Amino acid sequence: MTARALKVPGIAYGGDYNPEQWPEEVWAEDMRLMAEAGVTMVSVNIFSWALLEPSEGAYDFSRLDRILDMLHAHGIAADLATPTAAPPAWFFVEHPDALPVDKDGRRLSYGSRQTFCPSSPAYREAALRMVGELAGRYADHPAVVMWHVHNEYGCHNAECYCDVSAEAFRAWLQDRYASLDALNHAWGTTFWSQWYYDWDQILPPRATGAVPNPTHQLDWRRFSSDALLSLYEAERDVLREAAPATPATTNFMVMYNFDALDYWRWAPQLDIVSNDHYLQSADPESQIDIALSGDLVRSLAGGPWLLMEHSTGAVNWQPVNRAKTAGELRRNALGHVARGADGIAYFQWRAAKAGAEQWHSAMLPHAGTDSQIWRDVVQLGADLRALDEVRGSVGAAEVAIVWDWNARWAVELPSQPSGELHFQDLVRAWYEPLWRAGVAVDFVRPDADLSSYRLVLAPSLYLVDDEGAANLTAFAERGGTLAVGFHSGMVDANCHVRLGGYPGAFREALGVRTDELFPLLPGESVGLTGGGTGVLWSERVRLAGAEAVASYTDGPLSGVPAVTRNSHGSGSSWYLATQPDPATLAGLLDLIRRDAGVEPVRKAPEGVEVALRRGAEADYLFLINHTGRDAEVAVAPGAVELLTGKPAAGSVTVAAGEAAVVREPRRD
Ligand code: GLA
Repeated sequence: MTARALKVPGIAYGGDYNPEQWPEEVWAEDMRLMAEAGVTMVSVNIFSWALLEPSEGAYDFSRLDRILDMLHAHGIAADLATPTAAPPAWFFVEHPDALPVDKDGRRLSYGSRQTFCPSSPAYREAALRMVGELAGRYADHPAVVMWHVHNEYGCHNAECYCDVSAEAFRAWLQDRYASLDALNHAWGTTFWSQWYYDWDQILPPRATGAVPNPTHQLDWRRFSSDALLSLYEAERDVLREAAPATPATTNFMVMYNFDALDYWRWAPQLDIVSNDHYLQSADPESQIDIALSGDLVRSLAGGPWLLMEHSTGAVNWQPVNRAKTAGELRRNALGHVARGADGIAYFQWRAAKAGAEQWHSAMLPHAGTDSQIWRDVVQLGADLRALDEVRGSVGAAEVAIVWDWNARWAVELPSQPSGELHFQDLVRAWYEPLWRAGVAVDFVRPDADLSSYRLVLAPSLYLVDDEGAANLTAFAERGGTLAVGFHSGMVDANCHVRLGGYPGAFREALGVRTDELFPLLPGESVGLTGGGTGVLWSERVRLAGAEAVASYTDGPLSGVPAVTRNSHGSGSSWYLATQPDPATLAGLLDLIRRDAGVEPVRKAPEGVEVALRRGAEADYLFLINHTGRDAEVAVAPGAVELLTGKPAAGSVTVAAGEAAVVREPRRD
């Protein structure tokens, strides 16, 4: 985090504000209601390009002037967006080549948003011109506290397969490999007669008859993430030049199903990391998804971050869009704060009457202020004010989970031993029992500094480069506890199989050697000693120093070790060669955690989420009761519950569906 800090007091509160969609008479009511709700910051101008630049080079900033002046007059800070996520129709009429092309060669049309090719020079030029105008005009505007660069990079145009993108891909490859020879070896192009003799022969991995080359596909994902990152950096540089002290952010989407960007590469380029999070209607325990994404974003940020968007109720883009249940809005928002959010914002302030998102919830719903959502929004504003002092406090985890986008992309490539392995599901399966036990978790890259952790988990690390593998192995050698999930360590950074037996890079650290994989069919399971079962995976593990903790009890591998523990250096390393059923996995992770000497943040009844933020002067214990029963949790002497302001004598009672935030004296 840089000195470009957010100049908004306490926990910032607000949402996307799109006043241009409403007659100006409505704005006065917006200001009155924002004050009532305690809104302190709104994101403006996200989709205003067509209004700001009616034709190329002709600008009209008068409406935005009035919006920013009005916000300032009412003491509301502006997170001013560059409107580059939605170029106007005239731009595409003049530059049809800037429209993106999909894998099948179809050129998309304009008429929605983010329909541009990330490598288009015309788009880059038009976007940077607009950003330059905006930066020059508003760099010193007193309402502007942050730049909101673009919106959700890659949400709709993560990959473009056009000829211009092909050229940019080749330039990226030349930079990475320097010579065609190096590329051919890295991609293994002797296979299927794919050897390239000229850079111009290389294309994006467009639709083709059989399976494309895996390294080609992996480099394409890397390139596509970098192409968007370079657009972000270009905009940020223009903004930074005009307003060196104003922080820049762009809203990440660290959530289910979005995997286009390698956010480890992105995060260091942001002054403040922000994230959008939406519940999946089909997930019965979305509080765990909130916690996981919050822990991941905090880890990316290396400290506090901002929740830039979530919803007060239903969204409009799932097959069926579920409203939130009583108390869920508050539990969700506090769940993000518990994981390090120093700002809570929604999409959006006022529910739209028209347009593609007219059925999306907002802070001010269609029903107006006589509504449950509005009452909850006002209550949340008061809650966040009561948590002012929590701002800036950080997490304190002794457990790290390895998360790597390269490993994610690679394990989900076609033609794997099993097409049933989904990176985020695999990670969540291991995260869940830790969440239930109240164990604090950070996420790390494979090559991160691990010296502050006792336990490192790698639930799914199919691809690991040499540096990452050495780092994780050294962690166990030096006394740490390492646990690795099946199908990890299998390939190197170029997606080449690590020979000599599985799990390749971790064979020695884990003290096992597998000669053949036996993935399980959907619905199939295998028995485990101790009474549990395993799904998804089995393999013929042979012990090479490790001891068996559990073995398969049926199927072709009956009697073969399925879970192992090895003493490696002065530490220990565990291998899970199947996906145990949830209860068995919870039991194993409990054992592994104890082996590592890791304690939960606090003991709490089942279903009560526990998280801790540590401040300079005090600790903040978050207790969120996701059950229908009141729960009692022990707290330190001298504690105060901040949402009610009441002293807590020895324990707090968290009512069913409610939350408590307890300030405790800092324990070191
Ligand atoms: C995304 C976008 C918003 C809006 C919401 C709706 O997060 O950034 O503009 O479309 O989705 O959920």
